[in-house]
Amino acid sequence: MAFKCATDVFKLENGVGIPCIGFGTWQSPDDVAERAVCEAIEAGYRHIDTAAIYRNEKSVGRGIRASGVKRGDLFVTSKVWNSARGYRTTLEAFEKTLEDLQLDYLDLYLIHWPASPSRFPDWREVNLATWQALTELYKAGRIRAIGVSNFRPQHLEPLLAAEVKPMVNQIEYHPGYLQQDVVDYSRAHGLVVEAWSPLGCGRVLNDPRLETLARRLGVTTAQLALRFCLETGTLPLPKSVSAQRIRANLDVFGFEMPGDVVAAIRALPEFGFSGQDPDKVTF
Ligand code: A2P
Repeated sequence: MAFKCATDVFKLENGVGIPCIGFGTWQSPDDVAERAVCEAIEAGYRHIDTAAIYRNEKSVGRGIRASGVKRGDLFVTSKVWNSARGYRTTLEAFEKTLEDLQLDYLDLYLIHWPASPSRFPDWREVNLATWQALTELYKAGRIRAIGVSNFRPQHLEPLLAAEVKPMVNQIEYHPGYLQQDVVDYSRAHGLVVEAWSPLGCGRVLNDPRLETLARRLGVTTAQLALRFCLETGTLPLPKSVSAQRIRANLDVFGFEMPGDVVAAIRALPEFGFSGQDPDKVTF
């Protein structure tokens, strides 16, 4: 896939296109998310990623409206939080998300984290009940696509037998943490993989090995990391609250990334992992 601009898309199994780079809003406080989202859309992002737990959906919604860009030209994702797992509670959480965003549909709705075997004896049933709610909302036309986040193969497997399969898996993915087994399994089952924290939440940006590669291409390490996602078929969701960095992070289409640079990044040992293992997290 050779992406040329921010409105080029990844195609989902159901034919829906997702703009190939999205604007992340995790850790964007409510009072700044509105401005950041509006600036991102003005800069050219057409894909906004939020979640109920980010506690900024009202502000994200205001930023979307302030941009003046038509709703139909934007792709908006949100996620159901862990405390709302289950059928009825997920339906309620979805309505609250739409109300907070002041939108009448979502482009993509994700299960934020799997209920995992290590903590929930009935984890399959819990995830399937949550998934059933997403499926019904999807079939009713309230959501254009549905998926999961932070699901490893063992969590995905039961959902792959469902009436509607997940179309997206959003996972931590950056030059220091590739989760290749999760990427390969997800793709083998037709899911598009999205990268949360494609900059390693800033942790990987001062790595000297990445700095050397970035210097060679005449770009920043952030641009290197984002382009690496695209080169490896993964959709990056960089977050920033700085107007300058918001713009710079979109400027990733105007340079070549040779195969040996991709290979050099792939060969790096693990570094910069957030520590958030879906089978061990306690939230
Ligand atoms: P800020 O919001 O002040 O720009 P990730 O998307 O991997 O979660 O990373 C987000 C973190 O990286 C935030 O702390 C953000 O800070 C920082 N960041 C975003 N873009 C850049 C950039 N181009 N250069 C340096 N730091 C960046």
